[in-house]
Amino acid sequence: MIRVVCSRGTRCLKWNGFCISVHVKTIASFGYNTNVPDLKVSSSKSCTVQSNQVKSGQRKQLCKLVLDHFDKQYSEELGQLWTTAREVLLDPRCWQYGVMLNRFSESTELRQLLQTQDYSSLLPQDSGSLQCFVHQSQIRFPSQKHQPGQLKQYYLLNAASLLPVLALGVRDGDRVLDLCSAPGGKAVAILQSATPGLLHCNELDCHRWKWLAETLESFIPQALNDAVKVFNLDGRLFGQIEAGAYDKVLVDAPCSNDRSWLFAAPQQGALWLQERSKLPDLQTELLSSALAAIRPGGTVVYSTCTLSRAENSAVVERILTSCPNTELQDLGGLARSLSHHFTFDPNSKFGILIVPEKGRTWGPMFVAKLKKH
Ligand SMILES: C[S@@+](CC[C@H](N)C(=O)[O-])C[C@H]1O[C@@H](n2cnc3c(N)ncnc32)[C@H](O)[C@@H]1O
Repeated sequence: MIRVVCSRGTRCLKWNGFCISVHVKTIASFGYNTNVPDLKVSSSKSCTVQSNQVKSGQRKQLCKLVLDHFDKQYSEELGQLWTTAREVLLDPRCWQYGVMLNRFSESTELRQLLQTQDYSSLLPQDSGSLQCFVHQSQIRFPSQKHQPGQLKQYYLLNAASLLPVLALGVRDGDRVLDLCSAPGGKAVAILQSATPGLLHCNELDCHRWKWLAETLESFIPQALNDAVKVFNLDGRLFGQIEAGAYDKVLVDAPCSNDRSWLFAAPQQGALWLQERSKLPDLQTELLSSALAAIRPGGTVVYSTCTLSRAENSAVVERILTSCPNTELQDLGGLARSLSHHFTFDPNSKFGILIVPEKGRTWGPMFVAKLKKH
């Protein structure tokens, strides 16, 4: 197990006699209360749902280089489904956003507001404490600002982001690692779905690590302070420093983020495409580290937000070939139970792939589940 041997801010982990410097924040120090003023249903401007219009002057510029690259690759890999997804991805005005409620900051008025605005529940009402509301059209709630001392009432997200969390199936008391955690949407969703015995959230990038810590501060009450910790490590280390320590690990891997790459500045797009071929190796190493970090019988969920076969099924296939004690779990039941909300690629191998489509613009999201024997 990780031993925190220094105090305040930067701490050291003892591993094989080495001391690894790491930022560790417990949520304990943030001291947030849950007494937030509820949203005003009718009169407050701040809670009026907005049309998801991209104002003139703020229109995102398409990166032609990335689009050409995607057109070539994805039309080969997805055929007609790429035509469908392409139409959605190229038009941010038609993107939809789910509203995930914060069970630690319940608001009857918010629920009423969602009802009066014709939002419906993404998940069956009896499916537990994780609740997300979606709308058929492209209206959008305003994001809530971070306010020290107040818990937020909801988190806006691409509803497909909940599938990795649903696939992970965290139960009360589980020891859970979220290996690539910033900005923290899936960590928040895990804490909505159950009360893990511990949740370790890790992020390599320092800026994003701070963002992650802030997200957790905004959504988690003091009662969970001892269970939730935030790490700033390379996820590839966890397999060694925390071997066998977890019941469940989520690897929401760094990937070609298809939605944002399409709107990259030209130089940035060129750089990303140049670096893209290195991603499958990094993803395989992260997944391998996650498998080493779970106990026998434990499970790992691997997810990305790209359509790229090299970063999805090919990564999982590589792991299955190189780790004989690893077994692929069937996610067909989960996909079928949500098929009225999401469009799945019928030809996806080694996991399920949500492909955006007009009217159900969720995704891209690839999810695979592995069990270690
Ligand atoms: C897809 S994002 C995670 C999104 C997050 N799970 C959520 O739901 O909000 C992938 C994250 O992995 C981080 N990352 C990249 N390389 C990493 C590494 N070697 N170890 C840990 N995290 C890494 C990136 O900085 C990025 O924040």
